[in-house]
Amino acid sequence: MAKLWKGRFSKELDERVNDFNSSISFDSAMYLEDITGSIAHVTMLGRQGIVTEEEAKKIASELAAIADDITEGRLAFDPEAEDIHMFVEEELTKRLGAPGKKLHTARSRNDQVAVDLRMYMRKRIDEIVGMLRKLVETLVGIAENNLETVMPGYTHLQRAQPITLAHHMMAYVEMFRRDMTRFFNCFELMNESPLGCGALATTTYPIDREYTAKMLGFDAPCANSLDGVSDRDYCVEFCSAAALTMTHLSRLSEEIIMWCSWEFKFVELDDAYATGSSIMPQKKNPDICELIRGKTGRTVGDLITLLTVLKGLPLAYNKDMQEDKEAVFDSADTLKQCLSIIVPMLKTARFIKENMLAAAKKGFINATDCADYLVGKGMPFRDAYAVVGALVAKCTEKGVGLDELPLEDFKASSELFDSDVYDAIDLIGCVKGRKAVGGPAPEAVAAHIEKIRSTVLKPWREEE
Ligand code: ARG
Repeated sequence: MAKLWKGRFSKELDERVNDFNSSISFDSAMYLEDITGSIAHVTMLGRQGIVTEEEAKKIASELAAIADDITEGRLAFDPEAEDIHMFVEEELTKRLGAPGKKLHTARSRNDQVAVDLRMYMRKRIDEIVGMLRKLVETLVGIAENNLETVMPGYTHLQRAQPITLAHHMMAYVEMFRRDMTRFFNCFELMNESPLGCGALATTTYPIDREYTAKMLGFDAPCANSLDGVSDRDYCVEFCSAAALTMTHLSRLSEEIIMWCSWEFKFVELDDAYATGSSIMPQKKNPDICELIRGKTGRTVGDLITLLTVLKGLPLAYNKDMQEDKEAVFDSADTLKQCLSIIVPMLKTARFIKENMLAAAKKGFINATDCADYLVGKGMPFRDAYAVVGALVAKCTEKGVGLDELPLEDFKASSELFDSDVYDAIDLIGCVKGRKAVGGPAPEAVAAHIEKIRSTVLKPWREEE
């Protein structure tokens, strides 16, 4: 097919170069943004008298018809087209003839693609933030039902101190809350319009960049045209936020995978969210979690791809930048897919409180509390630590927990022990005592939940 830029060329493009150069197979995903940007551009051209008002109206309404035709499946993308921008312009000219050829006055594909991508990403960010909110809501729901569900907290994957399932879930809420903020920040920083930057140095036509910026929902036009067409910081920031969110999802997935094992059995996934084995009849596998954990690698790869593409690029536009979209699209799609599946999986999961409590009872996770008991009776902490260490050794020898050790054994190691030690090392008591801000005590976690409900989970858009 003849290229719109064929003017100075005397030969047709080699077929292989055409395929290599073409981006229509993926940038067609931005057709709505491309057409919306073009409508704003041509409306401005009409207002400024660069084309006639009549031409502008005609072009804008035909562009809208093209968008409808694509959406309704009446118009298919031409795989031979170089990119979505050329495809739309060619289609417009096919339909309108001469006036169609005026659309590209006072702009370049360089500012066009930059404006399209920013608009595309704004939508994806809105969707992702909405999905993250649902995830936070789900985790908060689990927390609310498990304020007193005692489980072991771990360090080095060794049972360490008693916490609750609520406290554990709310740790993830904090991660995802920050992820939401990262996406908001990305949106805010990139919400400036490159339209009118032209190929690199704006144009001599009397364009109105403020007008198109406003029409397309941007806060302002980009302040420097070289930067406007060559900045891809927002792609890096988007992929960074996506990779970090995926990393958080991956950590949560890893814990659920462990919790599903017979070694833990803290959770039973709903049958609709687990899979079987083709050979082992007993198997019920947490494939969803494993796939989320695995897909995290892609998003990290997307981020590295972008940074590597950008690092050596001189100003302004270079075709290398065409590589930005697949990384961004892949990260957006992967993250959205994972968020959409983890929420119902968590909602339908059954947490097995008895097993959590049984695990909490083993492993001496109340040893710190036992030492604190002695400190309360006047012993310096370091001495108390040594006394309890010896008691743990004795318990291990006898095969019992601290709470099962007879009082005389306690008394034999320190005079300060009395029968109230059993209250001091009672697991739920140990949890309830940790009521510092951010701690696992039910009242501290309830306060955290309340804070999340009144901030993150408050409607953030008027329409909600
Ligand atoms: N398909 C191109 C991209 O995604 C559009 C911009 C092309 N600009 C150019 N000067 N060849 O980057």
